[in-house]
Amino acid sequence: MTSHVDDAGDGLGRPSPEEAPFGVSTRGGGFETRAIHAGQEPDEATGAVVAPISLATTFAQDAVGDHRGFEYARTGNPTRAALESCVASLEGGAHGLAFASGMAAEDAVLRALVRPGDHVVLPSDAYGGTYRLVARVLAESGVEWTAVDLTDLRAVGAACRDATKVVWVETPTNPMLTIVDIETVATAAHANGARVVVDNTFATPYLQQPISLGADAVVHSSTKYLGGHSDVVGGMVVTDDAELAESIAFLQNAVGAVPSPFDCFLVLRGVKTLGVRMDRHCTNARAVADLLGDHPAVARVLWPGLPDHPGHDVARRQMRHFGGMVSFTAAGGEQAALALVAATQLFTLAESLGAVESLIEHPARMTHASVADSPLAVDPALVRLSVGIESLDDLLADLRHALDGVV
Ligand SMILES: Cc1ncc(COP(=O)(O)O)c(C=O)c1O
Repeated sequence: MTSHVDDAGDGLGRPSPEEAPFGVSTRGGGFETRAIHAGQEPDEATGAVVAPISLATTFAQDAVGDHRGFEYARTGNPTRAALESCVASLEGGAHGLAFASGMAAEDAVLRALVRPGDHVVLPSDAYGGTYRLVARVLAESGVEWTAVDLTDLRAVGAACRDATKVVWVETPTNPMLTIVDIETVATAAHANGARVVVDNTFATPYLQQPISLGADAVVHSSTKYLGGHSDVVGGMVVTDDAELAESIAFLQNAVGAVPSPFDCFLVLRGVKTLGVRMDRHCTNARAVADLLGDHPAVARVLWPGLPDHPGHDVARRQMRHFGGMVSFTAAGGEQAALALVAATQLFTLAESLGAVESLIEHPARMTHASVADSPLAVDPALVRLSVGIESLDDLLADLRHALDGVV
């Protein structure tokens, strides 16, 4: 399997220690080294090896406009700068911008790129919140949209108009785990004059780096794998485009949907173990997918690592591994799916995903209820698993027991 993760070194256009405000310098090295050190030089004043949670709302100026990189904490603060620098480094982009949630990050990047009368192409199985933001919030101010199957290049071409400014990509998608060929879609979108934004929440930069494949910007719900412990809501945008970064930074400051310093610290701490966590998520997910595939209570397993998954070959090319999310349809339909999600004990019935603990949910009635009765409606027999990093035998025993109960 080929990996697009560039472990070769730094050279990503990030600020040098000299020009960066305190705490945002970066170091070269492999992915895990950057996850632990990028943006997190030991504290200049004390030598503390962990970026301090900087709670100050304002920063002393030696003379008017003469400061050390920070003025007012909505505009920027040292803990947020460390996080922004670190995640930018991991995504291979020059500019990172942190937000109070994944939706706030999506809103900022869309508002930076789209004006009334413009058009957005969405994936036909986009995350429900993305669909709601475009179809029910931005559409109110005259933004138009079309949802298409992004694995069908002709459909993408047909959906693009002169007014199309953004092709929004999610891969793997939530909850169908569809794989989109980022490089191919980016080439088609750029040929039509549109920018490409990739929601990299499911893959994380450890498994896939969209900017290296032609994306103009990457967004994250850092509530998920980046944070990794179900204890912080946050969002990120990373881009290599200085002008776009400036527009997003303007909105970040003007709208103010910024994360608290403590939230930034939590995401930064989570990111340090992203690589090792993802390795275990992926290994456990493979075993879970195999178990589901062999069980009569399951009609169809969706996991990009399975050779019969329609996106398997693309996933092999553009991802390091296939991720920790597994979806499946219950052979007994919606009632069986509902019985199953209520029957597991270690897999907790809850929304969200991407943390150390395993979760199970019913997308049609939970995370994707906002797209019911829309073109993006989800099969009510679908169950989504966020496979955690608990002991694999315990995870398999829990699932086997629940599945046996609905045959
Ligand atoms: C793929 C994806 N993108 C974006 C979001 C929105 O992120 P947040 O809940 O942090 O606002 C989610 C949330 O579940 C998601 O799954």
